[in-house]
Amino acid sequence: MTKRSVPATRVSPYSYVAGRLRLLDQRRLPHEEAFVDCESAAQTAEAIRSLAVRGAPLIGVAAAYGLCAEARRVVARVPDDLDIALALAAERLVSSRPTAVNLAWAVGRMRAVVEASSGGAAGERVLLLEAEADRIAEEDRLACLAIGRFGAAWLSARWSGLVGIPTVLTHCNAGALATAGIGTALGVVRALAVLGPVAILADETRPYLQGARLTAWELREDGLDVTVLPDVAAASLIARGRVHGVVVGADRIAANGDVANKVGTYGLALAARAHGVPFVVAAPTTTIDLATRDGASIPIEERDGREVVALPLPGGGTVSLAPDGVGALYPAFDVTPAALVDAIVTERGVSEPPHAQALARFAAP
Ligand code: MRU
Repeated sequence: MTKRSVPATRVSPYSYVAGRLRLLDQRRLPHEEAFVDCESAAQTAEAIRSLAVRGAPLIGVAAAYGLCAEARRVVARVPDDLDIALALAAERLVSSRPTAVNLAWAVGRMRAVVEASSGGAAGERVLLLEAEADRIAEEDRLACLAIGRFGAAWLSARWSGLVGIPTVLTHCNAGALATAGIGTALGVVRALAVLGPVAILADETRPYLQGARLTAWELREDGLDVTVLPDVAAASLIARGRVHGVVVGADRIAANGDVANKVGTYGLALAARAHGVPFVVAAPTTTIDLATRDGASIPIEERDGREVVALPLPGGGTVSLAPDGVGALYPAFDVTPAALVDAIVTERGVSEPPHAQALARFAAP
């Protein structure tokens, strides 16, 4: 029998050509495949802040190309200002979203190229930056493939006695729309689908609906069996034995293994542990932040409460879900304690509790 590899997804959420970063506008999915063009760091930072582009690894890739676009823009106008312009651009990009550490990590890699090439010809420096951004994207693409393989093997081993089609529950979107490759959590799902049939339950993921709009869209594009459910139904489905594994992505993993991911993840981890269902976090090593000791030290993005009570309409505008003037709270991420995480799947291997030692090994340069 020929060994099947994980097929590439049709979805490509970004492209970069000579100073223009083109992003698939994720705010418009699934209704429309529209694009946002960024020709400066400021435009890229705004695309990241407004969630036109999102997902921890992908915002790192977008920021790296945003710096390339900025470099080309500055070199065409005032090449002598390149260092100062890129320093300001880097700060602006890093502050556009605080929780996903991949953003600061990717910008850090680009900064190192800026510093190492200081004093060189401006045109050459732009090419060096573009080569580094290409490497960041390619490394992420390869990491997703490895994560898929490791995660599928780990889960399959736990399902050896399972009769029928396994069902994986996921939250938010940790797929091709969130990375430069096949995704992290959805990379695992895609690798499982190569081994045999798998059913996917996608939490709708209120309020931005990454699950209903994005995960459902990209899995359907690839012909996978996906069903959307309201976030509030997940715990009871887990309790009723309808879920055989929960697989999610991460925005930052602290040195002790605490995991920040889209708000709602912690509740899934509690339900999974209560009912003996494996809870798996899939993330590249660029998401591990050894400088952050534990989850309490991870900055949690607080988004505008209006995003909770004003539902965007496909044709533009919003519809109000609550009385005018009512308060609304939107912590965009939560922290799942390391003890609830059965496996952290990276491109370098799988960490099982206690996570600290393996994470230190995986994240070492
Ligand atoms: O606010 P978002 O949509 O950027 O949140 C994304 C998530 O929480 C993902 O699970 C995480 O970034 C991992 S993406 C591989």
